[in-house]
Formats: sequence, structure tokens, C-alpha cells
Amino acid sequence: MTEGASLDQRVAELATVESFEPPAAFRARAHATDAALFEKADQDRLAFWAEQARALDWEKPFSTVLNDTDAPFYRWFEDGTLNASYNCLDRHVAAGLGDRIAYHWRGEEGEERAISYADLLDSVQRFANALRDLGVRKGDVVGIYLPMVPEVAVAMLACARIGAVHNVVFGGFSAEAVRERMAVSRAKVLVTADHARRKGKLNAVKSVLDPALEELPDLSHVVVVRAGADPAQPCPMREGRDVYYDDAMATAAASCPAEPMEAEHPLFILYSSGSTGKPKGIVHSTGGYLTGVSYTHRLVFDLDPERDVYWCTADVGWITGHSYAVYGPLANGATSVMFEGAADYPHPGIWWEVVERYGVSILYTAPTAIRACMRWGTEYPARHDLSSLRLLGTVGEPINPKAWLWYHTVIGQERCPIVDTWWQTETGSIMIAPLPGLTETKPGSATHPVPGVCADLVDSSGQTVPEGTGLLVLTEPWPSMLRTLYGEEERYVRAYFSEFGPERYAVGDSARRDTDGYYWVLGRVDDVLNVSGHRLSSGEVESAIVAHDKVAEAAVVSEPDEITGEAIVAFVTLRGGVQGSPETEADIREHVSARIGKLARPSRIIWADDLPKTRSGKIMRRLLRDAVQDRELGDVTTLNDPGVMTALRDRIASGG
Ligand code: WTA
Repeated sequence: MTEGASLDQRVAELATVESFEPPAAFRARAHATDAALFEKADQDRLAFWAEQARALDWEKPFSTVLNDTDAPFYRWFEDGTLNASYNCLDRHVAAGLGDRIAYHWRGEEGEERAISYADLLDSVQRFANALRDLGVRKGDVVGIYLPMVPEVAVAMLACARIGAVHNVVFGGFSAEAVRERMAVSRAKVLVTADHARRKGKLNAVKSVLDPALEELPDLSHVVVVRAGADPAQPCPMREGRDVYYDDAMATAAASCPAEPMEAEHPLFILYSSGSTGKPKGIVHSTGGYLTGVSYTHRLVFDLDPERDVYWCTADVGWITGHSYAVYGPLANGATSVMFEGAADYPHPGIWWEVVERYGVSILYTAPTAIRACMRWGTEYPARHDLSSLRLLGTVGEPINPKAWLWYHTVIGQERCPIVDTWWQTETGSIMIAPLPGLTETKPGSATHPVPGVCADLVDSSGQTVPEGTGLLVLTEPWPSMLRTLYGEEERYVRAYFSEFGPERYAVGDSARRDTDGYYWVLGRVDDVLNVSGHRLSSGEVESAIVAHDKVAEAAVVSEPDEITGEAIVAFVTLRGGVQGSPETEADIREHVSARIGKLARPSRIIWADDLPKTRSGKIMRRLLRDAVQDRELGDVTTLNDPGVMTALRDRIASGG
């Protein structure tokens, strides 16, 4: 029998195992092995959070922990001052750790850069000065639209150093998405790249962005990182507005002391999808956010900054990248890997090559990536020495037990605990997850809230559901919670604190609680889609489709997909009763790609003569979801014309 076949057999054998104890060897050296930590947090939650916050360096110590007089606008550590970049850099360098590697950067073509804490501090100081030279002041918004290059961390920390608020846009989003996010946040400066490398191709970034930037009156400067020179595609630079990163760095002063910020000073805005078409500008604070990410990064990943090599595979464009590829690990003085490329370039074994090369001991990734690796086959990880790994993590969507067991067996070699971490852009840091040296894990369950966090399951009237399925709520405020939606305070209250009042944060996920009190997060209860762990709203994709001139109307739902978790299915009605063609389909997909980004392209388009609507004209996505998943249709009595669904079912059966 080949090794691959025996591993697959082992995965199948483990399918009957309900729970896994922390492996003994792991437990023997883990930091948190005593359940007393939960009791301590329960006994005096605020004192517990204050203790976590004091692990940071405060320029002026705080005297109040929580101010909840204006709930749900909670304020944490409000009379204290600190600087996030100081906590991520200066204090480690001052402690003699300047030579420690902050990032092992690995480029797509195998290039390597080892960036020490001292190096990073130098670059961040210079770039902070460069931003000041461009007129950036405390409170100004700076957009960042970069591939996974070290300059992305430099730019974020440089903003934090001078109190500018960064607004990172994922590199996979389109120019139009960048324009929208810069416009609503009134960004003054945008940091971007000339080109971005992706799977061996060099894609132009700046020149594609330029037309969109014309429409941004507040944007005064664009800083361009040379992320991939291409003599055949020179990068257009506008005199007076655009400046190369290298040139700005060369003329900037070397020293820029970190400016102390009030704890509640906004550290960043990150746009994320809500249930309506318009993205939510989620605002995070300095003191509370940094407390939450550093605490959970230490605890949930059992971090030993002196020995561990930590790798979070998420792109910095997402909250996971912000919290667990930048702020959490740097605040804790960890050594991380930053990988520029895709999981299958130049070959499907590249991740395991990287693990072996840098001796990665903690790997944090998403279920969708694990499922892709499963499909590529066990032979790829089997070619590499993965013995450095001691802990594995996942985030982004529920992990199916089969993928969990594969991760546990093939990657973790049954030696590494798995931390399935549930949280959101809004929560800032991990909320529900096992403590790897302590918690017995069950494949597919994120287990329990971490110490300090309080959750519950409720029904739609807000009554606790002790066991079974309900709506997930967080019942106490926590330091790293979002503070508001940028410029939309009312929407903040409505979206999170209207359903169950200002004391209970409505998550938007449903979950099950089993007889042992374990949480099993099931998925969104709103119209938010989760494609490869990336959040998109149905409304956002629908607006993009409807903006196509041939389209009259569209409705978007998801269906399960083996690799991406959910895949987007669009029901589209064309104008003037025109019938759809493969060309129109390709055209619409391209159109969505240009408006939002490739990740939002529907995997299927089903031409619909009509869409199911209520008498008041609301599209019933629920019925469309039932139909694509070939389920019994739910209640159709509110439909204006029940015949619509019969016609659509025929369409689906005939392949769209
Ligand atoms: C889902 C990503 C189950 C959930 C950090 C949540 C998960 C949304 C898990 C937030 C998990 C995230 N198990 N579901 N471990 N982690 N989710 O804002 O539906 O991009 O509400 O934050 O992802 O997505 P977001």
C-alpha cells in the first residue's frame, strides 16, 4: 500500500472518533493547561481584560476599563494612551530583540527576504515620515491596495505610528471597488503597486487603477511600490500626485518617534460585506483591538515567540491578515512567514515546501485551502518534512469533519491540536476557539468562547436556547469589538444592536449547542455569502449584475461547493425578453469581475423569465436557494405568481 492510501485509510478510520484530547506531548509544554483561566475571567471579567491590556506598553496607563454609559458605543481603556506601532516594534527592539526575524518573506519565484524587527522599525519610521511629507496627519485616512509584499505591513504600521487610519482593500478586488472604498472614507493618500505577480503572470495594478482615481477629489497623493518591474508595461506616473515608494523613502527622515494615541483612536477601517449592497466600513480602535489580537494570538496559538515560526496564510486584505498576520504576531514579537503567492504556484506542494524551509511550527489557514490540498492529493505534503509543525488553525467558515480529519492526519500527523477559530471582521479577534493544551476538540466545532468572551444562543424573540439550534449572540462587550461603521452610526446600531438590544451583539450566524455545551457554527442567517471564506453580499453581487446593460433583474444565492464552501448562483432576467447565450454569460461574469473582483463571479448563471416575488415585489431568495439545492420548496403562499418557481425548476433541471 502506498503511504497516501494508508493515510486516506487512517482518515476514514478516525471518522468515528467524536472527540480528540490535546496530544500529550503538546500539552506537556503548552502555556494554558488549567481551566482556572476561565473561572478567573468569569469572576471579574473587567479585571481580566485589564490584565490582558497591561501586557501592552501604555504611554499613559488607563484607569477605567470599560465605559458603557453610551451603549452600544462602548469605550475601553479610554483614558490611556499608547501607540500600536510602538507596541509591535520599538518595545521589542528596546528589549534587545532587534535581530529577531519579524517576517520571512517568500516571493512567488522563490525570492527570499528576512526582515528583522529592527529593519521593520527603520522602514516604518521612514515611511511614517514620508506620509507626513505628503501631508498626512492624525485622523486622515490612507488607502492601501497592495499584493502580499512586506511593504504592506510597513504601510499599515507607518499609519499607526502617526495616527493615520488605514483602509486596506484586498488586492483581488477591482479598481471600482477601490474607488468606492476610497471615496466613502475620503482617503487622502493611496499606497499601491505598479504591478502584482500572480501565478507567474505580471498584472498591471496602477495603470488599471488610474481612471478610477480621477473621480476622487480628496485623494492628493498615490504612493507606488515597485512590486514587479516590467519594462514592457511602464507604470504611468502623474506629476505632482504620484510618487514611487523607494523615492519617498529615500528623501524621508530616518527617525519618527511613535505618537501616543488615545486608546479609542481609530486604528483602521476595513470594508466588509453586509446583507445589503453597500459594504460596511468596520472601524477598530487602537487599545482594545491590540489587546484582543495580542491576547488571543498568544493564548489560542500557544505562542512561544522565542521558538515558534508562525504562518497565517490569509491575505492582509482581510481581517485575518490584519489581526493574525500583522498586529497580533508583531505585538507578541513573533517570527512569521509572509508568502506572496497562491497555494498551487509553482506547484501544489509549495505550502509544504515553505513549511519545511522555514520550520513553520504554527499554521493558520482556511477550510477552503485544506479542501483544495485534499483534492490535489496526499503525495504533495508527503514529499516534505512537516515535523516542525506543532499546532494547526482554521478560520473563515465551518470546517467539515472530513477536512478536519485530513488536516489532523496528513498535515498534523496526529501530533498537532487543531484550533477551529470562529470570529468576524466586526469582532476583531478570535471569539470562540479551543485552547489547544486544554480543550478536547470535536471536528467541526469551534468549541467554547475564549476566556473573557461571553456567548449565547437565542431564538428570534431573544430567549436562550440551552441546547439545539439558535442565533448566536455575544452577551458582553469585549475590547476588540468594532466601534462603529464609518460615517454610519445609525446603521451600526441597527445592524448589530437592534435585534436583541444594546447589550447583546447580534452575530448574524446560526449555531447549534450540543449536550456538552460545544458550539457548532452553521453559517449566516442573512444574505451574506461565504465563498472560499470571503464575505460577499448577495445584494452587492446583484447590483453589479444589474448594472450590465443587457440585464433587467438578478437574484443571487449560493449552493454548496466542494472546494469553495459556497458558490454563487445568479438568476438573471435579460431586458426585452431576450434569451441568454454563452457569450452574454461570459460577458456578465466579466462585468462582475470588473465591478467587484474575480472572487464575486457567479459560478452558474440561470436565465429566468421571471423571479419569485412577494406581492410587495420582494425577491424571495430563500426559494431560489431551495430550488438550486434541489430541496423541497418552503412556503410559497406569499408568492405573487407561484408558477414562476415551476418554470425555474425546469430551467435548473435542464442546466440553466
Ligand atoms: C464565518 C473572518 C464557522 C461566519 C474571520 C462569520 C466561521 C463570518 C468561522 C465572518 C469558523 C468565520 N466556523 N464559521 N471557524 N470563522 N466564520 O468577517 O459566518 O470575513 O460570521 O471574518 O465567517 O467572516 P469575516
